[in-house]
Amino acid sequence: MDSENEFRNIIVSKLDNHKGLKVGLAEINRAEVLNALNIGTVKEILKAFQLFDKDNEVGCIILTGNEKTFAAGADIKEMAPDSAINMYLRDQFATWDSIGKIKKPIIAAVSGYALGGGCELAMTCDMIVASESAKFGQPEIKLGIMPGAGGTQRLTRAIGKAKAMEMILTGRTYTAEEMFNAGLVNKVAPDDLYMEEAIALAKDIASMPQVAVQAAKEAIMKSFNTTIEDGLAFERRNFYLLFASEDKNEGMKAFIEKRPPNWKGK
Ligand code: CAA
Repeated sequence: MDSENEFRNIIVSKLDNHKGLKVGLAEINRAEVLNALNIGTVKEILKAFQLFDKDNEVGCIILTGNEKTFAAGADIKEMAPDSAINMYLRDQFATWDSIGKIKKPIIAAVSGYALGGGCELAMTCDMIVASESAKFGQPEIKLGIMPGAGGTQRLTRAIGKAKAMEMILTGRTYTAEEMFNAGLVNKVAPDDLYMEEAIALAKDIASMPQVAVQAAKEAIMKSFNTTIEDGLAFERRNFYLLFASEDKNEGMKAFIEKRPPNWKGK
């Protein structure tokens, strides 16, 4: 992956993992504007995720910013002159929909501000590891608008109607601990350890059998847009499918032989 040629707003790399596959890392790199998400940055994030998705060396992905900011929202200066018709024709949030179609698990490692589109971007990921000083919020209401990149839907599903209403209608910011207690955040770590925690979680996942990882993620995501009956049928289909994988044979054989499994990724 050639980060110099393909990426201007993010830094892309791969982390070795002695336990299994590598971890793909995408770091938003617009510190001068608190990692505000202009259209180009979101496109680059999608592009990096798609490359990681196709890369057989990678088993899990981390998206992060820097210690001071994950992302302070959509780029207000880019958005200010936009018209409704421009935005409708450009359909910029289609990029965000495509992020939701990535098959490999994505962890958001959040420190500092995760506001507006920044909070929505973290929620588009599958898990959130936050630093103690992370701040989450949907302040769009203070700009005379509302969340447009999934905030009203993903936040409500994650923390429930009452808390989502409060957050979106007041535009207040909330601490990592409050968001952990609300169920949005997987883990809160000290400021100097949140990346380590996110990487440890990503490495654990990247050391698991990949077909099962992706089939399980697919089934969990299905639960957001289906009935329980259809969701259970979908889960069952993926469960049965895994019995065709070499890794199912290896995993069960290794258990019976009391030895660590040697995953093939197929
Ligand atoms: N868009 C564009 N530029 C931004 C930005 C944003 N979302 N957030 C910060 N910046 C820029 C500032 O304009 C400033 O640039 P200049 O030095 O050129 O003036 C620089 O980043 C530093 O910001 P501040 O001086 O404001 O830093 P601060 O520490 O005083 O305040 C903050 C930090 C509270 C996060 C404040 O920057 C802020 O409120 N930012 C906007 C947050 C927001 O409203 N986000 C929602 C955007 S709308 C959206 O996301 C829609 C959607 O659903 C997709």
